[in-house]
Amino acid sequence: MKNRLLLIATALVLAVGPLARAADAETELGAKMEKMSGAFRAVRRQITDASKNADTLAKLATIRENAEASMKFEPAKKSEIPTAEQAKFVAGYKADMKKFLELLGKVEAAVKANKNEEADKILKEVGDAQKAGHKQYKKEDKKK
Ligand code: HEM
Repeated sequence: MKNRLLLIATALVLAVGPLARAADAETELGAKMEKMSGAFRAVRRQITDASKNADTLAKLATIRENAEASMKFEPAKKSEIPTAEQAKFVAGYKADMKKFLELLGKVEAAVKANKNEEADKILKEVGDAQKAGHKQYKKEDKKK
């Protein structure tokens, strides 16, 4: 009986654990980013597969919608920036997010034109923009 309870408890933890982690974003901006993350992973996997272009475009739209929504928030790191520089920091974040969206638009256009190799190349730049954005605007203690 004891063993059985342990088994049930373990099964519950295993089942609920990943769900709890998925909803684990600490900020509203973090929650938008989490949504971008799942879609971006799938796009990276299938960008060169033209038979998946319809799905790739749907996932790119998810990234775009969440990136657009991200512009309405301010990075948590703002609180670590001297008050006099905060406005510049937030403006820089928004400008970089806008550039990110422009780049994403180029990927969408290439996929729509069935130019998958070209889309793949631009997607690498999207990945670079993600890294640069995180380096500059995300708190050090955050994962990824
Ligand atoms: C494909 C593109 C991107 C993906 C997949 C992505 C993904 C993520 C993930 C998974 C997190 C952690 C979220 C959490 O707290 O649980 C995060 C955080 C963050 N990302 Fe991104 N990101 C992308 C692009 C960008 C860009 C372009 C910028 C800035 C211009 C940016 C700025 C941030 C910031 C500031 C945070 C910390 C959240 C906060 O301060 O509240 N990200 N991102």
